[in-house]
Amino acid sequence: MREIRTGVIPVGAIDWDRRIFDELIPLPEGTTYNAYLVRGSGKTALIDTVDPTKEGELFSNLDELKVDRIDYLVANHAEQDHSGTIPRVLARYPSAQVITTPRGKDLLVSLLHIPEGRITTVQDRETLSLGDRTLEFIHAPWVHWPETMLTYLREERILFTCDLFGSHYATDEPSIGDLGRVYWAAKRYYAEIMMPFRGLIRGHLEKIAPLPIDIIAPSHGPVYLKPDRILAAYRDWVSDQVKNEVVIPYVSMHHSTAAMVRHLEKALADRGIPALPFNLTVTDIGELAMALVDAATVVIGTPTVLTGPHPSAVYATYLVKILKPKTRACGIVGSYGWGGRTVKEITGLLQGLPVELLDPVLAKGLPGPEEFRALDGLADRIAEKHRSYGIL
Ligand code: FEO
Repeated sequence: MREIRTGVIPVGAIDWDRRIFDELIPLPEGTTYNAYLVRGSGKTALIDTVDPTKEGELFSNLDELKVDRIDYLVANHAEQDHSGTIPRVLARYPSAQVITTPRGKDLLVSLLHIPEGRITTVQDRETLSLGDRTLEFIHAPWVHWPETMLTYLREERILFTCDLFGSHYATDEPSIGDLGRVYWAAKRYYAEIMMPFRGLIRGHLEKIAPLPIDIIAPSHGPVYLKPDRILAAYRDWVSDQVKNEVVIPYVSMHHSTAAMVRHLEKALADRGIPALPFNLTVTDIGELAMALVDAATVVIGTPTVLTGPHPSAVYATYLVKILKPKTRACGIVGSYGWGGRTVKEITGLLQGLPVELLDPVLAKGLPGPEEFRALDGLADRIAEKHRSYGIL
């Protein structure tokens, strides 16, 4: 095991084969569950644990390092991929005390039945001495659960951030200099997990800005040896700045909606606007989420099934709603056979998202010249909007 700094050692596990997380999020590149041993002159801390399926690797790493005592087990986050092995660590190291936020304690007790007496809560900016080293705890709620915190190892200027800044990226290279090939995995991670909390993350970035940080050590993916790059990427993603792009999640049963989407793509391209179509039948929703990070406009394409939108379009629209992207305008295009409530259902799903709804374009059956003209009109309207945002 390679030390990040003297006495700061990754002891977590690599999950090369995992392909889905929370039964929702695709993991095309696997993931890691990072845990870190921090040795001080007086005390030893373990920062986070691993998914319970990988507890063998954690214990084998601790054995290899001949760790016979852990004084503090820092739980930055209570989700089970980091906390699930805490009960086994506590059983193996009877003097270990869990360190977490008050909300973290509540969750660890309810999720894992950890005895309250084994948990010590810390307030925001509270510190804990390991002898010659100091841990400072920085409350950072909602990245992405309410109890989350960051842990700063002052003397080494290392910020342990758990999920924040993480990437689902299995690698046996524990650290990286440049963001390079991890950029897309980190963006995908942000899109799927962190984007709904964009405003709060802006606050967290301001809170940590005064800290000198040499290393960011998240609990998924590699450690960042040049943290400026990932911090700059996050500042871009959480900003209100949108890009001149239109994301089009669509599904088509008999090619009519697809024909409308193809026409709209071309009309947008003619106006200098890149379209990013996602055929929902084959879409990796992580790719869709990533596209939503920047796009100024989203257009949902759906046929009418029975009396409403296709279930795949409902799923995608709901995803847009809960991921809360910075998108400013939304449109609907699609085809129907004999009526229905497609527009009403889709706009209902989008309610609460601060977007401007553009006039929908629906075709009865196969689209013809009239519908294609209406799609040109929609492209004109989108171009007008993008010009007003200063991006076209
Ligand atoms: Fe990696 Fe929210 O757990």
